[in-house]
Amino acid sequence: MNPALLDEALRTIDFPTNSNVLVDASHADDAGIIQIDKEFALVQTTDFFTPIVDDPYIYGQIAAANALSDIYAMGAEPISALNIICFPDTVLDSEAFKLILQGGAEKAKEAGIVILGGHSVSDKELKYGLAVTGKIHPEKIKLNHNLKSGDYLILTKPIGTGILTTALKNGILNEDDISSAIKSMLTLNDKPSKLLHKYPVSACTDVTGYGILGHLWEMLEGSEVGVTISVNEIPFFDNAIPFAKKGTQIPGGTLSNERFIHKHLDMGKVDLWYQALLFDPQTSGGLLISIPSEFATDFLNDLAEYPLPVSIIGEVHDRDNQISLV
Ligand code: CO
Ligand code: CO
Repeated sequence: MNPALLDEALRTIDFPTNSNVLVDASHADDAGIIQIDKEFALVQTTDFFTPIVDDPYIYGQIAAANALSDIYAMGAEPISALNIICFPDTVLDSEAFKLILQGGAEKAKEAGIVILGGHSVSDKELKYGLAVTGKIHPEKIKLNHNLKSGDYLILTKPIGTGILTTALKNGILNEDDISSAIKSMLTLNDKPSKLLHKYPVSACTDVTGYGILGHLWEMLEGSEVGVTISVNEIPFFDNAIPFAKKGTQIPGGTLSNERFIHKHLDMGKVDLWYQALLFDPQTSGGLLISIPSEFATDFLNDLAEYPLPVSIIGEVHDRDNQISLV
């Protein structure tokens, strides 16, 4: 939803808390974390959304991969999940219902977690996702902030799923046309997440609804550092670029994402059409990782067999608290 509205509500409501809470919503982190004992903290998150592809089985898988991603972004290990489904049972048949849940179950299996149950509601508009629980050692938590000057920024998936799924919804493209984006959305962030503990990573988040620059701003907000992003180093889905240039098939969220952070953005000499990609709301996007520069190449080499492009897209400096594009 609109990031400004959410931000305002989260700042004004007095949510109950206690001294065992290690991570809450105050820094827009990917998941909440509560300490259970010295060695064990519980990680919780939920995410669900309306269909972005026509195939119910693929939709179920993407929704589950997307919900699991916030656990991986904290460097945590998922252990269990609950299904959440709002289903138009007067419009769609039971086969679609089963295929969506089957898709979610497949991704849960791949992630090595169990599904303990869930909740279903009859609703005009279909929505599906998971509430996921994970675990982590309290000292190993990876927050989305505290970037260090000199760090490099690594992105583990291409950008452009918002434009491509909008073009699909509008009948401009079909599912075959966007197969590379579907493959990316189906890919779990588990492998890059494991590497967060091999190197002294400063911060990590996953790229979802606020687009790459929106989530990057969450990493920077209120800090002493800024970042320079090389747009040429960001992997974009090839077939999303012509739409960005023409300004067509742009999802509604792009503009509110742009409004939310435009004050903190210096576009430099970068063409304005890039904004359509840089603010494009992502589904099941990659991890965005801030890592001391001397470890960045090793991190990339460890993902040499990874099925998606992993790139160094920018660096952290202490000049100003803003995002500069080159
Ligand atoms: Co997230
Ligand atoms: Co989320």
